[in-house]
Amino acid sequence: MADKIKMGIIGLGRISTLHLEAYREKHGLNAELVAICDKNKKRLKEISDEFNIPEENCFTDYEDLLKFNQVDAVEILLPHNLHEKVTIAAAKAGKHISLQKVPAMTLSQMDHMINATRENKVQFRVFENFRFHEPYVKAMKMIEEGVIGETTRIDYRMYAGYQTLGGWEVPMKSNLWRLTEKANYKSPTIFDDGYHKHSVISWMLQEPIESIIAWVGKYQIKLGGLPTPIFWDSPSNITYICKNKSHYATWSQHLQDFFPMHTDYYNCDEYMDIIGEKGAIFIPGCTGSWFKTCEVGPGKEGIHWCTEDGKWHSDTSMNSDWQQSFINCSKHFIESLRTDKTPQLTPEDARYILQIALAAVKSSREHYREVKLKEIKDGI
Ligand SMILES: NC(=O)c1ccc[n+]([C@@H]2O[C@H](COP(=O)([O-])OP(=O)(O)OC[C@H]3O[C@@H](n4cnc5c(N)ncnc54)[C@H](O)[C@@H]3O)[C@@H](O)[C@H]2O)c1
Repeated sequence: MADKIKMGIIGLGRISTLHLEAYREKHGLNAELVAICDKNKKRLKEISDEFNIPEENCFTDYEDLLKFNQVDAVEILLPHNLHEKVTIAAAKAGKHISLQKVPAMTLSQMDHMINATRENKVQFRVFENFRFHEPYVKAMKMIEEGVIGETTRIDYRMYAGYQTLGGWEVPMKSNLWRLTEKANYKSPTIFDDGYHKHSVISWMLQEPIESIIAWVGKYQIKLGGLPTPIFWDSPSNITYICKNKSHYATWSQHLQDFFPMHTDYYNCDEYMDIIGEKGAIFIPGCTGSWFKTCEVGPGKEGIHWCTEDGKWHSDTSMNSDWQQSFINCSKHFIESLRTDKTPQLTPEDARYILQIALAAVKSSREHYREVKLKEIKDGI
């Protein structure tokens, strides 16, 4: 393939900021952003001006962008319920595809996309930046090298707070579709954001997850200008159970107005414990830097671990900025296209994670019944 991949982006909403960032010259991506699309003309113009994209390469209809011959590959950054039709149209137009998570609302939608991309011989990967977050990459390498022995348990926590210190403004529109059944099963935590958590946990557990138990609460969000209150699926707690019952993980999420959340992005942060048979890894910081000003916090961002001999070790040399995970994930796709390799997440990996996300929603709706993944045949 050409030395520089010519890219188009479809969907210029909240998260596009970090995708667009990767195309700035300083990050050295072997790609050129040649076309953009959003139905919102104001946003289209803003990005066209900022990235010097000629007006004739800016589209309000994705079909028009897909007809543009110069484009080799597209990034699709739209609400989940639009993913299937836009991905299939892109495959038919012969474009390689990087699709933001959550890839689909149902397994059959996922299968339709997999079939269309195979029939049209284009690369199809799901964009999952958490697997490119440098402390997580380092932890995964250590797990594979056996530094902590077999992973038996993971506890992943996420905290969100409205007392955000420096974070993004998220437009109301960006939240509203996430609270609909059609586009997100009314599950911004356990389905939408949860996709990352299901992905990281299933990756690091290294054993197939067999069933899920999900408990979900109800948190009233204070958003001005709306006639009725908005409820978020928070707090929530998910247990992931492997066939071998001694291997399991939990993910809990808690939203509290008073959490002093230091962040440059969304108003949340993550913390992870990975327990192995002969050591344990602790990773503070991902989306935000919650403990930045806390003197007794869990340590500097990076990765900390203890080993059988009772010793502590730390590596804080990597780039722990969440934005870097987007740049790494974008680079990976471009280099995979240039070298004709299969990019991550493969459609099969992404489908398995979707099955976990669907099982979590199903369990939360059935009074936290243990739901086997094999029960999920299509949607909820
Ligand atoms: N990796 C991550 O950490 C992460 C974070 C946030 C969002 N996401 C994913 O990215 C996707 C987009 O999320 P977002 O938060 O940016 O949403 P958003 O609502 O902020 O943006 C969606 C954009 O799509 C545009 N759009 C909608 N329908 C369109 C159409 N038919 N044609 C052209 N444009 C259209 C809207 O005008 C809007 O600008 C979702 O799948 C979401 O799950 C991933």
